[in-house]
Amino acid sequence: MAPDVRELLSSRIRDVQDYPKPGVVFKDITPLLADPVAFSALTDALAGLVDRHGATKVVGLEARGFILAAPAAVRAGVGFVPVRKAGKLPGATLGQAYDLEYGNAEIEVHAEDLGEADRVLIIDDVLATGGTVDASVQLLRRAGARIAGVAVLLELGFLGGRARLEPALGRTPLDSL
Ligand code: PRP
Repeated sequence: MAPDVRELLSSRIRDVQDYPKPGVVFKDITPLLADPVAFSALTDALAGLVDRHGATKVVGLEARGFILAAPAAVRAGVGFVPVRKAGKLPGATLGQAYDLEYGNAEIEVHAEDLGEADRVLIIDDVLATGGTVDASVQLLRRAGARIAGVAVLLELGFLGGRARLEPALGRTPLDSL
């Protein structure tokens, strides 16, 4: 990505101190979404990764991942598949449970949305511990898809998500914009 685009995107992400709890600095992407030039540049960059990695579908991770992934899918000319928190999809689903810092969670996908011909690009806003992407990779593989790549807007490197994903991803590209 061109340095000026990276600079533009960085400039539109706001640090919010002590949210959602004291000591946490929340990365707020809403200023980026509200700026049509920045949002369009981000969409172009993500759509470019769909092409570069030969993805046949884009998978967005609930909830903020949806906002980034859907326009990228449209711009790249491929379908969009949502990975949702458990209980939100009406059809036949596959589910994947995973651990959170406190407690656990489960995500689901419609089994019929993916097949063995699919190579998917997973898109989310933030890579933190990597737990959400790790569970998504397992879920999507169980649904028969191959993983063409993972793309996130932001990577919180100090939380070690990239290292956690190494065993699952191997040489599969993980792009953080
Ligand atoms: C956030 C973020 C990622 C995930 C990253 O989702 O959008 O999906 O956490 O964390 P991890 O790498 O440690 O798994 P969250 O469910 O908190 O919020 P959202 O539904 O607003 O996107």
